[in-house]
Amino acid sequence: MKRIFTSAFVLTGLAFAPGFSTAQEAAIYSGMDRIHPAWAKNGMVVAQEAVAARVGRDILEAGGNAVDAGAAVAFALAVTLPRAGNLGGGGFMVIHDAESGDTKALDYREMAPSTADRDMFLDDEGNADSNKSRFTGLATGVPGTVAGMQMALEQYGTMTLAEVLAPAIRLASEGITVTADLADSLIGLENRLKAWPSSEAIFYKEGGAFFEPGDTLVQTDLAATLQKIADEGVAGFYEGETAQKIVDAVAAAGGRISMEDMANYEAIMREPVTGTYRGYEIVSMPPPSSGGIHIIQILNTLEEYPIGWLGSNSAETIHLMAEAMKRAYADRSEYLGDPGFYDVPQAELISKAYAADIREGISRSRATPSQEIKPADLTPYESDQTTHFSIVDKDGNAVSNTYTINFSYGSGMVADGTGVLMNNEMDDFAAKPGVMNAYGLIGGDANAVEPGKRPLSSMSPTLVMKDGAVYMVTGSPGGSRIITTTLQLIMNVIDHGMNIAEATEATRIHHQWLPEVLRVEEGLSPDTIALLEARGHDVQVMETMGSAQSILVDAEEGLLLGGADTRQTSSLAVGY
Ligand code: DON
Repeated sequence: MKRIFTSAFVLTGLAFAPGFSTAQEAAIYSGMDRIHPAWAKNGMVVAQEAVAARVGRDILEAGGNAVDAGAAVAFALAVTLPRAGNLGGGGFMVIHDAESGDTKALDYREMAPSTADRDMFLDDEGNADSNKSRFTGLATGVPGTVAGMQMALEQYGTMTLAEVLAPAIRLASEGITVTADLADSLIGLENRLKAWPSSEAIFYKEGGAFFEPGDTLVQTDLAATLQKIADEGVAGFYEGETAQKIVDAVAAAGGRISMEDMANYEAIMREPVTGTYRGYEIVSMPPPSSGGIHIIQILNTLEEYPIGWLGSNSAETIHLMAEAMKRAYADRSEYLGDPGFYDVPQAELISKAYAADIREGISRSRATPSQEIKPADLTPYESDQTTHFSIVDKDGNAVSNTYTINFSYGSGMVADGTGVLMNNEMDDFAAKPGVMNAYGLIGGDANAVEPGKRPLSSMSPTLVMKDGAVYMVTGSPGGSRIITTTLQLIMNVIDHGMNIAEATEATRIHHQWLPEVLRVEEGLSPDTIALLEARGHDVQVMETMGSAQSILVDAEEGLLLGGADTRQTSSLAVGY
């Protein structure tokens, strides 16, 4: 952290850069660091889409707290980042209340309908049919976002649902300026969206032509749906006309969500999962996310190695990280699922003693083949389609939120007449034991489909605490890579002393046990790759992973430092 202020300006006592009144401010802009974070003194929002980030900043500046801003950003992203922001999906929000010192984990994950059954995604021969779990009405779980935002506001907010919905309603009805990012994604996802006339009518021009950057995209039906929620509360979405349109559209696409399923949906306020790493406290999302448990498990495993000394992205460090990751993902396949249906052995998985056992099986010089790694014997007791945002307000409250409709634009289907894109989150269940989902993840009983159950997720909104106060707010999209991306943000700051912008930009790596591939981004040196291959890793350089949007709190300097991920063109860290 200190590094951002030890610039030439501070060290040599040169005059501050023009326009800056303190050494600190000048240093942020003129320091010798590779990459600079954004900074603010009072409140900050970091999100994957700039218009929505500014909506949140405006709310903070007008006196709203982090949760007010969080709900407003979530609704705004449903308009400005339709491929991931949503009303028709679900997610998780970790909320820190500075006054009480309490942190809670809000679960607004989608839920399987009451008529779901274990074999619903099998074909006549008993094979898993991925088309059914991804691109039909059966793919859609009962959406949780609206109920989630309502619960967050009710318990921690200061504003009403109608107040935080207002910016989103305006953006949907007046229209947004199409960015290059949005235009590109609509070209890329043409087939998925044009499969549904209701989607084509919104996201393409007359005759199916593409929107160009600079065009205006108006979403009239979505504006009306948002307005109904503002007027009627959650009942405006989960009951009555909107719910009926969603139920009808899902049924017409072969699915089975009922009006009762909609009306019965409830968000759940849970206790977060917590651990420690080199003196910091890690507070993250518990099941039905696998993220918090496995981030803590991997950190526990790595804590006894001198990671900082071994160096960022050195072959030794990457080897140890990959070995720890493989073992965690093996356990994920066996032990993680909705805790309302399956007894997740959380305490064992996050214990330091279990991490010590894991380390005994790790060789410093040789990759253990994945087939030799099995889930431990414990006694039970697609790229950028999800989105994360981080918020800290002037009082030190924090929101770490990741939400999704799973694939880019979900199943592709807008429920006709609502403007709402429906999720295909049911694919996150194990359609059949041992059969991979879209992210190559496998599972068994713990994550089998059951009525009313929530599919296992990797979304990992996380807080890192220091001396009881929020130090870091982070998280990312990226399917199975969410866990490892978020892990690396934490390690880059704690082990490698990077500032939050450097930690965000650094080349990422990922191993998920199966497939047996050490996936890396562009940017590792060929010699590092050769050293990893010599240890037995199958290293594959592939496209970028994740879109981390993080804040670091520098309590000493009284600054909020933002890292918006430049892997996405419209990311923004903005404060006041
Ligand atoms: O909940 C999960 O783990 C997935 N549905 C997240 C999907 C995702 O991150 C897509 N973006 N790459």
